[in-house]
Amino acid sequence: MTAVSASSPNVSGQTAAERFGVIERPKLEWNPEIERETAHLYERVKDHIPEIEWPVYAPYVAAINRLKKERGAAILAHNYQTPDIFHCVADIVGDSLQLAKEATQVDAQVIIQCGVHFMAETSKLLNPEKTVLIPDMKAGCSLSESITGADVRLLREKYPGVPVVTYVNTSAEVKAETDICCTSSNAVQVVESFGVDTVLCIPDEYLAQNVAKQTDVKILTWKGHCEVHERFTAEELLAYKEADPSIQIIAHPECPTEVVDVADYTGSTSGMINYVRDQRPPKVLLVTECSMASNIQSSVPEVEFVKPCNLCPHMKRITLPKILDSLCFMTEEIHIDPDLAEPARRAVERMVNLKQ
Ligand code: 13P
Ligand code: SF4
Repeated sequence: MTAVSASSPNVSGQTAAERFGVIERPKLEWNPEIERETAHLYERVKDHIPEIEWPVYAPYVAAINRLKKERGAAILAHNYQTPDIFHCVADIVGDSLQLAKEATQVDAQVIIQCGVHFMAETSKLLNPEKTVLIPDMKAGCSLSESITGADVRLLREKYPGVPVVTYVNTSAEVKAETDICCTSSNAVQVVESFGVDTVLCIPDEYLAQNVAKQTDVKILTWKGHCEVHERFTAEELLAYKEADPSIQIIAHPECPTEVVDVADYTGSTSGMINYVRDQRPPKVLLVTECSMASNIQSSVPEVEFVKPCNLCPHMKRITLPKILDSLCFMTEEIHIDPDLAEPARRAVERMVNLKQ
């Protein structure tokens, strides 16, 4: 990771805590006022958080929502965040591409990124003037960890002249070595945007193979895998389908190709959500991280979700207590080496500015 420690200073020489000041952690108590203030939010998560547990969540939710206003902060949350974060404290939710785009639009001096480290780095790249915090700096990603900037330089030597498309699930150091970024929702479009016959699409081997099936461009790739999606097998999905042929299988393109081959639909996390909202299949198996089904369940109550649950341990590092700490103590701040920031930003901006 290219970020330095939480307390390290920015270019002004001051830490975020010094620039914004520290706020004492508010007293967290369950009382009639907190109950009233959060009642409408509990409605959104009541199918996932038992009533008896809400008095533990509600004081955090109320404190975070108050402090957010006081700090002029916006919370950007990925679709894999838990329902309490997704439904009760987030200002903007979405897939990687949506969050990257929203980061450029958001009217807030502080961004709290509820997602993994590469997402917070992307927000910082697109908002160099803003303060970007991540509630847990250790929220990584197996794809991001699978490749370094030096690896990309070696690939360029091995394949001179071949454009390099880098999945957004990479560090700023890797993005800085590449021509353009892509996400799971625009990878085919990005690969075809060069108008050449061969492209390097790294580091996700499965995403690259799934893209290759949708284009005539020859795709070279890398051996990176998502530790959540690589665990699904076609065999287990076919067993579900055999038990109930009405089940619709909806997969993320980070899954192995044989899994995608048995899916009724494949798309980014938001693509999957939109498919379920538009099609309203009676029974759905979302071949992705667990929290997705919980997060959309309330908007499609008639849909039954079958859950072969795989958790992303990195996404799950983000919790309400850590978000509250970020707001109180202005931790942990994302910094990007200025020498890497410029070329990395160009790669992300090229993607964001690509015409749909
Ligand atoms: P999306 O861009 O589809 O949200 O995917 C991000 C991710 O990390 C999936 O594992
Ligand atoms: Fe990375 Fe996979 Fe977790 Fe997404 S689900 S953040 S790709 S490890």
